[in-house]
Amino acid sequence: MDRLDKVYFYTNTKMCMDMQTCLQYVETLSGLVKTLPTEKIELSVMPPYTALYPCGQLLKDSSVILGAQNVFWEEQGQFTGEISAGMLQELGVGLVMLGHSERRRLFGETDEQINRKVHAALAHDLIVLLSISDQTEDWKNHLSEVTLIRQLKNALQGVERSQTDSLRILYEPAWAIGEGGKAADPAYINQCHYAVHMALVELFGEKGKKIPIIYGGSVSADNAMDIYSMEYVDGLGIGRNAWNAHRFYSIMNMILEGDKNAENIK
Ligand code: PGA
Repeated sequence: MDRLDKVYFYTNTKMCMDMQTCLQYVETLSGLVKTLPTEKIELSVMPPYTALYPCGQLLKDSSVILGAQNVFWEEQGQFTGEISAGMLQELGVGLVMLGHSERRRLFGETDEQINRKVHAALAHDLIVLLSISDQTEDWKNHLSEVTLIRQLKNALQGVERSQTDSLRILYEPAWAIGEGGKAADPAYINQCHYAVHMALVELFGEKGKKIPIIYGGSVSADNAMDIYSMEYVDGLGIGRNAWNAHRFYSIMNMILEGDKNAENIK
């Protein structure tokens, strides 16, 4: 398969950084990233809501995309505690991640709610990073692909071909994420990504082939290259191992250098 012309890197800082720490992190990272060929990467950092405004100010002239970890589907109204896509845009947000397995598991987010959020974000021209995930039980029972395709198709119901340029898919096995998680085997990741790729082609035809599919879950400097070199992996979503700006930078640099050296590693 032809490679996409960018490598996709994302980090979601979850609820793990206070505002000051997050600001320092974003400042260091955006400084380091200037030395990378920025036209060859799409990089987004997703701080908590409380740090979005100052991070947005900091990233005004940067290639780093300010991302949000969630959004509500309504435009405005009596929805205590929620934040709309328009409100995020005011802060300079360019991307929202939807459907992270922690949101599905801890906050009971359903495919139907995620679908509404997808539409709200797309209506505001935000990039949608749609996260899909299989559970340990799915994996043990060889149902991972069924689960992933169900989540994917439900979340993308009603999305038009004309909107697919704004879509990114993030595959994160629930059992691979976070403390105690273990990254999935590269061949297994590739198999799941292939299934997702085919479903995207089924939904959107040729346009579906251009939708980036990114892997996340215990990615580190040790496994990043093996995972990224898989044919259907277009980028990496990194949590803990990206929260040190220098470490994240060196992973990105390694992937880009590897790409260059291997000319075409896929
Ligand atoms: P991790 O987190 O890299 O710390 O496993 C991944 C994620 O949840 O995006």
